[in-house]
Amino acid sequence: MCGIVAYIGQREAWPILIKGLHRLEYRGYDSAGVALINKDLAVYKCKGKVDDLVNHAAGKDTSGTIGIGHTRWATHGPPSDVNAHPHYSGNKKMVLIHNGIIENYASLKAELINRGHVFESETDTEVLVHLIEDIQTRENLELFEAVRVALNGVVGAYAIVVIAKDNPDQLIAARKSSPLVIGIGQDEFFIASDATPIVEYTKNVVYLDDEQIAILPRKGELVIKTIKNKRITPYIQELQLQLESIEKGGYDHFMLKEIFEQPRSIKDSMRGRINAREGVLALGGIRDYIQKFANTRRIIIIGCGTSWHAGLVAEYLFEDLARIPVEVEYASEFRYRNPVIDENDVVIAISQSGETADTLAAIELAKSKGATIFGVCNVVGSSIARATHAGSYTHAGPEIGVASTKAFTAQVTVLTLMALMIGHKRGTINESTYHTMLSELESIPDKVEKLLHLNDQIKYLASLFKDARNFLYLGRSYSFPVALEGALKLKEISYIHAEGYPAAEMKHGPIALIDEEMPVVVIATKGASYEKVVSNIQEVKARKGKIIAVVTEGDEDVKGMADYAIEIPATADQFIPLLAVVPLQLLAYHIAVLRGCNVDQPRNLAKSVTVE
Ligand code: G6P
Repeated sequence: MCGIVAYIGQREAWPILIKGLHRLEYRGYDSAGVALINKDLAVYKCKGKVDDLVNHAAGKDTSGTIGIGHTRWATHGPPSDVNAHPHYSGNKKMVLIHNGIIENYASLKAELINRGHVFESETDTEVLVHLIEDIQTRENLELFEAVRVALNGVVGAYAIVVIAKDNPDQLIAARKSSPLVIGIGQDEFFIASDATPIVEYTKNVVYLDDEQIAILPRKGELVIKTIKNKRITPYIQELQLQLESIEKGGYDHFMLKEIFEQPRSIKDSMRGRINAREGVLALGGIRDYIQKFANTRRIIIIGCGTSWHAGLVAEYLFEDLARIPVEVEYASEFRYRNPVIDENDVVIAISQSGETADTLAAIELAKSKGATIFGVCNVVGSSIARATHAGSYTHAGPEIGVASTKAFTAQVTVLTLMALMIGHKRGTINESTYHTMLSELESIPDKVEKLLHLNDQIKYLASLFKDARNFLYLGRSYSFPVALEGALKLKEISYIHAEGYPAAEMKHGPIALIDEEMPVVVIATKGASYEKVVSNIQEVKARKGKIIAVVTEGDEDVKGMADYAIEIPATADQFIPLLAVVPLQLLAYHIAVLRGCNVDQPRNLAKSVTVE
């Protein structure tokens, strides 16, 4: 949620900030703003996207070698020019950008109003900048000290950057529960919510930790302290991000690029971890906890959105292959319902961004009860990756499209590896099945590659159904989470109402919706519940629903029954999600494009949800 970028050095800040904001727009895009110090402290901000900001500032003075930029996803106060960041202090000498939520903003605001402060916006952020100003004036403090003291009075989450007219050679940044990375160049510094705005300028980065505050001078050294005033030695790391991986590379949208990257991202998620010929399967990140994992009495999986769907696939995998009972929970529900959990439990937290606030809070809760937490994250060094005891990264590479695609298949790949490894360790799968499954898993990237050739066929299907008002997605067993994910993709980016259902449950409700207007996507691949799903297809047909069936290559029977069929390569039941989801991603993508929707930045959504 909300993207932050800042620069101090010798170059013009504006182009760096605007390019950075474009890269961060996936985090939020309802308003944008920049502040620069030149002769004055100039602030340009407006409702809308970064391009609207560029138009808004056209012809104005955007010079300056120090500046901050923000792209917003509204929490407190609707998207508007006045609620856009940066926010001014009362004396208009200081500005602040913020990602997160100041939970005690109401009481702070009331106090500040009592002391004569006047607020322009409805945001919690404006309260923070007034608080800093208030402390600075009352206690006559340096800017850094005022920020530090103010943060000690704040409850909630923040990543902030502050600049002040009277301190034109200094950026002050701090974080708690919202990410911030500092890029160190030659006589210049960069700050951003993630490394994408920084990567072409420097590979030397420092990730700020919770409750740390940094001073970034125009010349000189980076200073980091805790908000309790303890000096910290910055840990400089080499950035592992490649510029090409965050550009569209000839595709019309990031989402399409990311769908097409799946053969590679699935392969990368297995790289160095699996060797079918030698029967080797190793996940280095959880090696030290393998015994604990294998002996656990149950596994609780937590996540949100698409990551929760990957968790549902994992439920089937772990119960099927490792015979361990599994519960899958929305992180936001788990944390608020006084869950029964203790040191005998293993928790798997799944998160692409590694920053989702509810997932992070659920982890902290489970940890406080003594459970062992494994992470499955995509972003290396993210808050969730660091909060867990152990884990395995998904190695999907940066995912920019707000609708998750390659992260899902990478998560399912890693969870499959985990389930196979634990099943093998527990002896719940025999040697021959284990070996067969390893080789089948190794063949999945090639099968996904083959599936991508369906793109034109699916584009045609999209043209037939783009005006539908509702969609139903049905699947059983391993295909049920795929039905949920297919429906989620469609509603996220095309705004068509869609529901995913276990195929048999359809009879208990959604069947009432079916008529000749209703497209029903059924995952009806050959496997354990094939015959049952075929019966469900007949039930839909009897009510004149339009069947789009995802079938196993060469299955003429279901092809004959369905109005349209999408053929996918044969595989074991356990790996169906990795294949069946791909045509559903493409279907959602093409429908959204044909409806003229903004595929990479769907309305109201954000990639990384750092609010609760
Ligand atoms: C947001 C994104 C989804 C994502 C979910 C969980 O809603 O738009 O694509 O699945 O958050 O995010 P995470 O980063 O924890 O996987």
